[in-house]
Amino acid sequence: MSSIEKLLSPLVTPAFTLRNRVVMAPMSRRRSQDGVPGPSAHVYYGQRAGAGLIIAENSAVAANGVGYLNAPGIYNDTQKAAWKRIVDEVHARDGKIVLQLVHTGRIGHPLNNEGDALLVAPSAVRAAGIMRTPGDQYLEMPGPQPLSIAGTQSLIEAHIQAAKSAIEAGFDSVEIHGAHGFLVEQFLHPHTNRRTDHYGGSIVNRSRFLLEIMEGVTAAIGKERTGIRLSPFAVLNDLPAYQEETATHQYITDALQEMGILYIHLSDQPSNGYPAIPPAYIRDVRKRFSNLIILAGGQTAESAEFNLQSGLADLIAFGRPFIANPDLVERFRHNAPLIAGNKDTFYQGGDNGYIDYPAIYTDNALCSNVL
Ligand SMILES: Cc1cc2nc3c(=O)[nH]c(=O)nc-3n(C[C@H](O)[C@H](O)[C@H](O)COP(=O)(O)O)c2cc1C
Repeated sequence: MSSIEKLLSPLVTPAFTLRNRVVMAPMSRRRSQDGVPGPSAHVYYGQRAGAGLIIAENSAVAANGVGYLNAPGIYNDTQKAAWKRIVDEVHARDGKIVLQLVHTGRIGHPLNNEGDALLVAPSAVRAAGIMRTPGDQYLEMPGPQPLSIAGTQSLIEAHIQAAKSAIEAGFDSVEIHGAHGFLVEQFLHPHTNRRTDHYGGSIVNRSRFLLEIMEGVTAAIGKERTGIRLSPFAVLNDLPAYQEETATHQYITDALQEMGILYIHLSDQPSNGYPAIPPAYIRDVRKRFSNLIILAGGQTAESAEFNLQSGLADLIAFGRPFIANPDLVERFRHNAPLIAGNKDTFYQGGDNGYIDYPAIYTDNALCSNVL
């Protein structure tokens, strides 16, 4: 019997069954043109369909929220059709796939947005840092335009519409990107949210944008198909730690429990040099939230099994290991060594470093319709 028995065991959810508890974490590979997933994306995801669940890379819900060069979107019909091809490939291989929905807010550059759309955010607080833009120019991120109430509500609507489009394209579920300092977290965080209306100030008000998105999405596609990614304490994308962080996240967690969403996905970033989520905090989420918890960040097969056996999480997500090991689950099963991916091609490089890492254990190595 394998020593990673639980990691390899199936999980039944109200909407679908996962064949194992290994999740492919969302990873932006930035090989899209005009926000449309690229011609090899179905091969890439198809190769990784042995995961219990794939969470496809963050995809913009609106033309002014793409942020990163060559990132995909799900706000028009061409993008939706391209995603359908990817979903069909994963389903043909008996995999399950979720789409991560994002608006990058103040993180990004207008040159990376469709139509050079200006950056928007809860308040006019510029993010420090540079961003890659067309022609390989690295430019400072400009200050964002503060959103009006009508603008805020139209972006809530954009998330809801994107969720509907994702389900119409065949995705099994959607994940709202509430992590890593993008728009949803910019509303949660008092550093980036200086508003004096009902979307700013108190914990209840700062959480309103996130919860209105979640309410709208669950009403549109079903709570059993709605998840969220959160990264408390991660201070990513120029967000400092703040005093009410635990209380803010506890408030959200309780509200999400009441809504009965499918999962909370906790993104832990110590492997990238950021502060870890304290285990006591994760245990607190576990007490407050009775549906699925996905844990991501620096996990190995062994730590994953431990976290599952100890009841801390129900599913474990792996990011970088999936880049160069498309048959990661089989490698875990056979205790085979993992290959380190080439960092130079994480975010660019066409098919190089994308679909050319071979599988050693499964026929997922090559999709039938490789270009
Ligand atoms: C190339 C790359 C792209 C990423 N893109 C996303 C993304 O689109 N959305 C997201 O929430 N996290 C993203 N992440 C973070 C991963 O989902 C994951 O949380 C992180 O890599 C830590 O897990 P790991 O140690 O297993 O790699 C990305 C990470 C990498 C390496």
